[in-house]
Amino acid sequence: MFYHKLGKFPQKRHITFYKEDKTLHREELFSTKGFSGIYSNKYHLYMPTAIKEIKKVQKNTSEVWESAPLEWRMFHTFDLEAQGDPISSRMLYLYNDTCSISTASPDQSCQSFYKNVYAHEMIFVHQGQGTLKTDFGAIDYVEGDYLVIPKGVVYQIEVKDKNNKMLVVESPTPFDIPKHFRNEYGQCTEAAPYCERDFRPPSRLETFDNKGEFQVYVKAGKDWYIHTLNHHPFDVVGWDGFEYPFAFNIHEYAPIVGKIHQPPPVHLVFTTESFVVCNFVPRLFDFHEQAIPAPYFHTNVDSDEVIYYVEGNFMSRKGIKKGTISHHPMGLPHGPQPGKTEESVGKKETNELAVMIDTFAPLQSTSNVKKVLEPNYAKSWLES
Ligand SMILES: [Fe+2]
Repeated sequence: MFYHKLGKFPQKRHITFYKEDKTLHREELFSTKGFSGIYSNKYHLYMPTAIKEIKKVQKNTSEVWESAPLEWRMFHTFDLEAQGDPISSRMLYLYNDTCSISTASPDQSCQSFYKNVYAHEMIFVHQGQGTLKTDFGAIDYVEGDYLVIPKGVVYQIEVKDKNNKMLVVESPTPFDIPKHFRNEYGQCTEAAPYCERDFRPPSRLETFDNKGEFQVYVKAGKDWYIHTLNHHPFDVVGWDGFEYPFAFNIHEYAPIVGKIHQPPPVHLVFTTESFVVCNFVPRLFDFHEQAIPAPYFHTNVDSDEVIYYVEGNFMSRKGIKKGTISHHPMGLPHGPQPGKTEESVGKKETNELAVMIDTFAPLQSTSNVKKVLEPNYAKSWLES
């Protein structure tokens, strides 16, 4: 990310900064990689450590699908909905030690606060609109937004309608802009499919000077806690730095097209140390006179491929609905279903919209996958 600032803070770091009542604001360095990575400095009204109670809580977790066969899978996430807020309505489908993939279908806003202390979160907003409220300020979101929330950020989501649908991906390492999309100073290059203007950092900082009891649900891997603060968690009067939540809308992505089929890395959005996020957006197809726009069969021996389908007609796949996920395990070939290659020849453009996650370690399915599984998907390449 780039340097951003909101609210008020002193002229230098680590110097006195008084409130109107002549007491000090409390400075908090919010940093990555110890003291060596990117960071922000926040200024609180109260000590961020002022906690009245720490309580471990039990949460129902999704069971592992122990006997899941090694096969290609497709499942329909819109068919399995849990009610609740954007945190409590999450349904976990796929995971490994460095990636978790869930969906959420909230019909209500968060009443308490939440933070994930072991994982950064990327929330793709498929449907609905609302506001991501954080201690760094608020970001209004709309359909198609990726909300990237660094680990440790306290947040709430206010939904403005009842039909919100979200894809939620967690990672212990940050969602970064790929290195080759940036120059040596970190600025997006001319060849990148987006630039700094497309990213939306928090734009409004509302400071709450409230004492009382405020519950923050803290997720630490599989464990959950409630930390009860003696003050409102959004007591920041100002901050500056490079580490903060932000939004980027999928429709701002300017796809790179070619004379012949371009491989998925041209569709990269974010990279982590353990997986990449790509998106397929409406674009013109390849312009060689004999081009086959549909992908060729391919075996990725080092990555599991997960595609979440958003809108449009997907060029290589049949039976897709909104919210469908396909999961193609590493080491097995995959490609267009019968008829789809031929169908793509001569086509000039596509209106497909999808988000892909390619993980560098195998993903385990939960029993939620089994509940909404498309039967016989693994045999759908048999031509009749
Ligand atoms: Fe693929």
